[in-house]
Amino acid sequence: MQRNTSVSQELFDAAIAVRKRAYVPYSGFRVGAALRASDGQVFVGCNVENVAYPEGCCAEAGAISSMVAGGQLNISEIVVVADSDPVVSPCGGCRQKLAEFGGPDMIIYLADLSGVQAKWRLADILPATFGKEHLRSGE
Ligand code: THU
Repeated sequence: MQRNTSVSQELFDAAIAVRKRAYVPYSGFRVGAALRASDGQVFVGCNVENVAYPEGCCAEAGAISSMVAGGQLNISEIVVVADSDPVVSPCGGCRQKLAEFGGPDMIIYLADLSGVQAKWRLADILPATFGKEHLRSGE
């Protein structure tokens, strides 16, 4: 993967900081996410696990909830950070959640603790997305 450092230091630092708050007693795998909404505000989330494993919540989902609670509905870019090699990658469910709040050109930066290691467009990792236009076509 290509290293790409064009993500703002602010966004990367925010993801690193919130990752430290991850609640991960079961996996031990800390993830932090920081997104920039289209108005420029930054929202963060960390993964929050649960003893009933499927009830856990990914870092990306937490950041999205924070953004919506803050009154924003459009993501322009997101950084996801974990201490992993290969670099962490959003799960399938989170890709769909991201698609709800951004178009195919949304930028997704994948980072480890030393920095951003890859940069994708949403369309790269969620092609043929199921979207609102499909629902409308059924009316
Ligand atoms: N996880 C995230 O928070 N984001 C990702 O992109 C990948 C996986 C979390 C879910 C779970 O708490 C832990 O990482 C291990 O799967």
